[in-house]
Amino acid sequence: MSAAAPYRKSGFFNNKIITQDFVDWTFERDGSAYVVKPHIAERVEFHTANVLSPDLQKLVGAQDIIFAQNFLFHLKPALARSALENISRLTHPGSVLFIDGVDLNLRRRAVQKKAYAPLDYEIERIHNEARRARAVGWPYEYWGLEPFLTTRRDWKARYATIFIAN
Ligand SMILES: C[S@@+](CC[C@H](N)C(=O)[O-])C[C@H]1O[C@@H](n2cnc3c(N)ncnc32)[C@H](O)[C@@H]1O
Repeated sequence: MSAAAPYRKSGFFNNKIITQDFVDWTFERDGSAYVVKPHIAERVEFHTANVLSPDLQKLVGAQDIIFAQNFLFHLKPALARSALENISRLTHPGSVLFIDGVDLNLRRRAVQKKAYAPLDYEIERIHNEARRARAVGWPYEYWGLEPFLTTRRDWKARYATIFIAN
């Protein structure tokens, strides 16, 4: 994204999780389009890349905040593991990763392998917001998401979406 070509979204927001305050803070109206405000756009670069590319680290470099959401579960498990390995090369100690839309066992093993620390901040609310779209798919669809169950011994590591890299 650059000031010369600001991100535009036509139409209106009908997602109840996206608050009017957030929309007002983030976008200016231009007719029927929403344009990202300059104070945000000037701090953002926009690239497209394949998460599986061996050049990803060279292209993107180390990042403080990484969102990897709602695409890993579309990949075959071996590819999703490679993607997470590749994403881990974009971290430095203290990087924050938001990883969601992924098989929970696969995420659990991947973050354990890297010794990322799961964050329990708003853990249940974040998990349940993801379930608004995905509960209906559980347990039969690959994109379905199980209920938040604190009866599991490993519930914090299993249901955390936010992780701190070391
Ligand atoms: C369901 S959308 C999710 C978009 C956004 N992350 C979100 O949570 O709303 C899945 C996105 O993953 C992208 N995607 C699929 N395979 C990818 C890959 N190998 N590398 C990078 N992006 C990929 C698709 O292009 C698509 O934009």
